Amino acid sequence: MRILKWTLLAWLVAAPALAEIKRDHHSAARLDEVRIKHLYLDLDVQFDKQQLAGFADLSLDWKKPDAGRLDLDTRDLSIDRVLVKTDAGKWHRASFTLGSRNAIKGQALTIRFAGHPNLVRVYYRTSPKASGLQWLSPEQTLGKQKPFMFSQAQAAHARSFVPLQDTPAVRFTYSAHVTAPQGIRVVMSADNDPNATGAGGYRFNMPQPIPSYLLAIAAGDLAFQSIGPRSGVYTEPGRLAAAAKEFEDTEAMIAATERLYGPYRWGRYDLLILPPSFPFGGMENPRLSFITPTVIAGDKSLVSLIAHELAHSWSGNLVTNESWEHIWLNEGFTSYVENRIVEAVFGQNQAKMEQVISQRELMAELKELPAPDQRLVVDLAGRDPDDGLSGVPYDKGQWLLRTIEKRLGRDTFDPILREWFDSHAFQSVGTDEFLNFFGTRIFDKHDAAFPRLEVEEWLYQPGLPASAPLTAAPAFDVVDAARTDFLAGAKSAAALQAGSWVTQQWLHFLNELPTDLSQDKLADLDAAYHLSDTKNAEIAMRWFLAGIRAGYEPIRAPMRAHLIGIGRRKLMMPLWGELAKTPAGKAWAREVYQVARPGYHPIAQASVDAVLK
Ligand code: BES
Ligand code: ZN
Repeated sequence: MRILKWTLLAWLVAAPALAEIKRDHHSAARLDEVRIKHLYLDLDVQFDKQQLAGFADLSLDWKKPDAGRLDLDTRDLSIDRVLVKTDAGKWHRASFTLGSRNAIKGQALTIRFAGHPNLVRVYYRTSPKASGLQWLSPEQTLGKQKPFMFSQAQAAHARSFVPLQDTPAVRFTYSAHVTAPQGIRVVMSADNDPNATGAGGYRFNMPQPIPSYLLAIAAGDLAFQSIGPRSGVYTEPGRLAAAAKEFEDTEAMIAATERLYGPYRWGRYDLLILPPSFPFGGMENPRLSFITPTVIAGDKSLVSLIAHELAHSWSGNLVTNESWEHIWLNEGFTSYVENRIVEAVFGQNQAKMEQVISQRELMAELKELPAPDQRLVVDLAGRDPDDGLSGVPYDKGQWLLRTIEKRLGRDTFDPILREWFDSHAFQSVGTDEFLNFFGTRIFDKHDAAFPRLEVEEWLYQPGLPASAPLTAAPAFDVVDAARTDFLAGAKSAAALQAGSWVTQQWLHFLNELPTDLSQDKLADLDAAYHLSDTKNAEIAMRWFLAGIRAGYEPIRAPMRAHLIGIGRRKLMMPLWGELAKTPAGKAWAREVYQVARPGYHPIAQASVDAVLK
């Protein structure tokens, strides 16, 4: 106890420096001078040139009217001209400069003028290699007839397709007019109209203020099917029926979340199912979550991803991290809410299995992560916000909230969390606000059930506090017993009677296999359960991982198809990394990557390039 106290004291002295990270290291915006209030986009989607071209109108809210300048973020944009609108309503050319290129931030666009115009118009074009856009040829789509494009703005990629203040500290409303070739439907993170024909272009409006990382656009051969009173699915026609079936519980999830945390404030909640090169599982673009097709498993076993992206409609999209150091406020809260939704709609058994997987995968990851990145609040100075990302904000963040919930009881904790969302709606917050708000209600209470010292250990110390409660999932008891028997040679694979296991039981079985498993054991499992042929991409990834480690050849062909077909980072990065550990594995990986790379998103390409270089 004594030793514990001293260690606590030692880091308490160091903690304030971290707690005070307030600047956004990743933006050129001068927030004390001016802020964007509204954005109007007028763009043409040009597949032949792989570019968006047009203009952005920025309405400005001046904090310092004599600043005489506006600093915007850009990356690889061609700026053609800049106009400012005077009070008398006249447009004038304004002079501008593009700063030197920073590998992380891109180029600052500085516009100078006399006075403080309320409206600035920037004519620009994007680059074919824009980091936030992927352009797919018809051959790269399911239907093979029409091209496809989509954006991914988080964390700092909006600047590669719109010149703006690219920081989560600023919120603005937006509207847009977008034209595209005949037969191509355009959707955005706004009020999509399934009946729009595209004649004269598509028009959008987003009346709720959003941070720049929630700007989103996609265009392609998109069909629509309604799946509920305020929900539907957009995707390529060939995927529509399967997607609509898999995600038919979306309305039940929205209703469950509303019961817990108050009304859904965004109008419609639609899903856009992207081609498999989408580099993430999902992206919480408001009113229209972007979703990987790899969660369409056919049995709804991976739909917690929808719960996750939906949960962001409260944690993240309503209450937003003010900079990426505090991303745990987005992702940790969301992972917690996600699990509450899963529990409400699919039951406690499912929710507990998913909690255990999250906890155990985090513990495994913590063994590899540098200590500073094990803190909930990370220091991103001089770093790309995408590189600072790990399971920590998600799984450790969720675990913290779960621990507080257990200690206080849901009757006390649920209303407090709901009040957090309500009282900070449409604001950007940091960990200080979290400490202030939950401090008066929980941490600083006399006889606090969860004292401030304890929460500060979660926030600013590496690893996990000893008091972190491990979740038990009864459905995993048979899995753990089966694994033990199988490894000890007490039972053959067939004798494990695993044929009826659900996805999460398989994930847990595979996650905890030893790394030195023999080829014979894998062959036995494969013969009994045909794991090399699984269509479930989450199971496949873990099975292939075991196969690489054991040098089990029969996985090569299906793994090749998996790596070429799927650009979702979480499902392919572990495999490239494991392959790269041996010279033979790396040589094979390079050959496969030559075929896979052109189909990958720029963000995914950069990640794999680094591993296989
Ligand atoms: N907002 C994230 C995706 C993201 C985070 C993109 C940081 C860029 C930078 C999204 O909500 C997310 O967390 N997706 C997860 C799924 C989730 C169920 C853990 C993913 O993509 O795997
Ligand atoms: Zn998320």
